[in-house]
Amino acid sequence: MTSGAIDGSRAAVLVTGGAGYIGAHTAKALAERGYRPVVYDDLSAGFREAVRWGPFVRGDIRDEAALRSAMAGHAVAAVIHFAGVIEVARSVAEPGLFWDINVGGTGALLAAMRAAGVPRLVFSSTAAVYGQAGRGAGEMIAEDDEKAPSSPYGDTKLAGERMIAAHCRAHGLTAVALRYFNASGADPSGVIGEAHEPETHLIPLAVAAGLGEGRPLTVYGDDFDTPDGTCLRDYVHVNDLAAAHVAALEADLGPGAFEAANIGAGQGRSVREVIAAVERALGRPVPCAVGGRRAGDPPSLVADTGRARALLGWEPACSDLDRIVRDALRWEAQPAYGLGHRVRRN
Ligand SMILES: NC(=O)c1ccc[n+]([C@@H]2O[C@H](COP(=O)([O-])OP(=O)(O)OC[C@H]3O[C@@H](n4cnc5c(N)ncnc54)[C@H](O)[C@@H]3O)[C@@H](O)[C@H]2O)c1
Repeated sequence: MTSGAIDGSRAAVLVTGGAGYIGAHTAKALAERGYRPVVYDDLSAGFREAVRWGPFVRGDIRDEAALRSAMAGHAVAAVIHFAGVIEVARSVAEPGLFWDINVGGTGALLAAMRAAGVPRLVFSSTAAVYGQAGRGAGEMIAEDDEKAPSSPYGDTKLAGERMIAAHCRAHGLTAVALRYFNASGADPSGVIGEAHEPETHLIPLAVAAGLGEGRPLTVYGDDFDTPDGTCLRDYVHVNDLAAAHVAALEADLGPGAFEAANIGAGQGRSVREVIAAVERALGRPVPCAVGGRRAGDPPSLVADTGRARALLGWEPACSDLDRIVRDALRWEAQPAYGLGHRVRRN
């Protein structure tokens, strides 16, 4: 193990945004691997009930002093940074907020890590850093492809990556940015799952529509240049994502290294294929209507995951679409957690 890697058992890992969807699944994976996940979250979009595998600190990601004190108080050895605002449409309406939380918050986190002497970071980045530069159906996106975000959300994530890379060069921090494609599914235990408000992601919306709990599903455009005319996306199981974070934490990288890696299933699935998978799992049709294309929606976003394999030794293990949908359905269908009941404010 090089000096940049953290030393496994019982080491405390600060998980910012750990009360949210991907953060909670990663906290569980960390605990199963012997780490102590310390969740830091302001609960603006996350849930106290989703913090189950270690201590909880309520705080804002822009509060450098509170971050420093959480790091010192829990002897934090590394940070995984999920906290942020995530809705693309909201970023168009409120760009200042996105720069403040996603970029300003990352700046505060980096300053606190430096002050507290925490040497290692894994950062939630996104396929949105690539924008929509003319890709054909199913053509894979690699890390060195052009970065051209098509929303303020994507801009702030790319800016976050660049700020982190500069800190690595200047201050010897070791960091990995994971560019997720479409996070989906839920832990098979049914204890944690996807809970966004508003929910904009296809699988939970299709499940809700199929269960009769949501509106009929809108298919945004069926005239794309793809095999069935609907958009192709890369759906990766949230537990595969969680495993990628643990692998990134443990990757053999020296001080000052900064790496970025795509995390996806490496396969494009159309909106119609996803609806068919939900219908198979539910055993009934999903009511849907075709609407117009959404501004800035690229026809195809599919990850080339070669770098994640080579750098992290990671590959998807449970991202088969039927399995993703089954796990999502188990979570969504619980009476106590059904849509509308599940989203409880703290
Ligand atoms: N869900 C996806 O498909 C996807 C894809 C690519 C990237 N990402 C990135 O992954 C990360 C996690 O996404 P998610 O889907 O789990 O979202 P989420 O909304 O469930 O989780 C985000 C968490 O951050 C917290 N948070 C927000 N603002 C905060 C602040 N100012 N201070 C402290 N905590 C704050 C929220 O309370 C929430 O618990 C985000 O950074 C997102 O941009 C998600």
